[in-house]
Amino acid sequence: MTDEKVTISKGLEGIFIADTTLCKIDGTNGKLWYRGYPIEVLADKSNYEEVAFLLLYGHLPNRHEMDVFDARLKDEREVSSEIKEIIKMYSGKAHPNDVLRTCVSALSTYDDDMSDRSKEANLERAVKLIAKLPTIIAMIGRTMRGKGFVEPDRSLSHSSNFLYMLTGKRPDKESAKLIDLMFILHAEHGSNASTFSTLVTGSTLADTYSAVVAGIATLRGPLHGGADEAALNMMKAIGEPDNTEKYIEDALAGKQRIMGFGHRVYKAYDPRAKVVYKYLQSFMKTTTDPQIEKLLEIAIRAEKLMEEKLSKTKGIWPNIDFFSGPLYTAMDIPSDLFTPIFAASRMAGWTAHLFEYWENNRLFRPLDNYVGKLDVEYVPIDKRQ
Ligand code: CMC
Repeated sequence: MTDEKVTISKGLEGIFIADTTLCKIDGTNGKLWYRGYPIEVLADKSNYEEVAFLLLYGHLPNRHEMDVFDARLKDEREVSSEIKEIIKMYSGKAHPNDVLRTCVSALSTYDDDMSDRSKEANLERAVKLIAKLPTIIAMIGRTMRGKGFVEPDRSLSHSSNFLYMLTGKRPDKESAKLIDLMFILHAEHGSNASTFSTLVTGSTLADTYSAVVAGIATLRGPLHGGADEAALNMMKAIGEPDNTEKYIEDALAGKQRIMGFGHRVYKAYDPRAKVVYKYLQSFMKTTTDPQIEKLLEIAIRAEKLMEEKLSKTKGIWPNIDFFSGPLYTAMDIPSDLFTPIFAASRMAGWTAHLFEYWENNRLFRPLDNYVGKLDVEYVPIDKRQ
């Protein structure tokens, strides 16, 4: 055994894995750009289709490019009867994110030529995945609640159509903007855990489906894509706004993490959380739903206390997942669909990163530092203690 000194970067903190032109995060100042465009500008002025195009093709589409891309997405929204069978078979028996993962695995069986690894073929796969995920998620959500499928509607935008397929109602202007906003804000975020695992799988030259299935699986945990569901569950557990401070104090005293706070890269307020909060506030002016008002009051009181306790001292500020729950609830979206919706939006970022990485691919193969024994004597099974 060598006495070689190794430095371990737990969680790969501070390690750069590739050059990218997709996304820049300034964690110190709480800023985010997709391909150079500030997130606040895209949130206010763009739409998800345009952002997905930007991520995949590297520039904002002109009118013609947009029309073609939009039509392709609409063409690909439907899913086969076999996928619908999988949805019926598993919805309610597993978390919706797990059912989604299974469906995306199954989508690979419809690929005409998996051996075609050209950029064009992969971009086509990305279009299909981006187009079909909202349909699958809406169908899972409805099946879990004993409702029949609602087929996609070509007259609606990507995100509005999702809300329509989920609720059976055409969204009003405000809900249409809010759901599109959430799709935009979740579309991309550097080499986060799920994008990294997409890249790790892709770096073996596995196919696009295998790589994004790894991404969907990685998103599931409460430290990553599961945080908004967990944050909303916490707000529901708090119940009444007046319980907020005691609940948070007790949780922190018990060394629990407050979901929707903290980030590996941001040591400032997550700019996406600021955008969500801004839209949530303007939405609140138009709603009189007491449940939403209560959730928001709990969120605001929790945020204030966390700011006193942890934000300024430890840099643990709200992340995008903190205010997402009340916003989704305002749109009648059940909390078990939050993570799958994150996956549907992030599909653009996952695939764009994967294709960028493949242009200069190298197998990921880090090392671990063995600290166990060596040359241990083999004892036959009957002689072991
Ligand atoms: N609540 C309370 N304490 C926290 C929190 C939190 N949410 N986050 C970090 N800390 C503390 C942690 O206990 C540790 O304290 P100490 O130094 O005293 O042991 C310190 O901050 C550093 O924590 P860490 O786990 O080493 O930091 P990290 O960079 O690995 O954590 C994180 C990043 C996102 C996993 C963590 O902040 C967390 O668990 N947050 C809650 C889950 C969450 O909201 N995740 C969504 C992230 S944003 C959306 C996405 O991209 O997925």
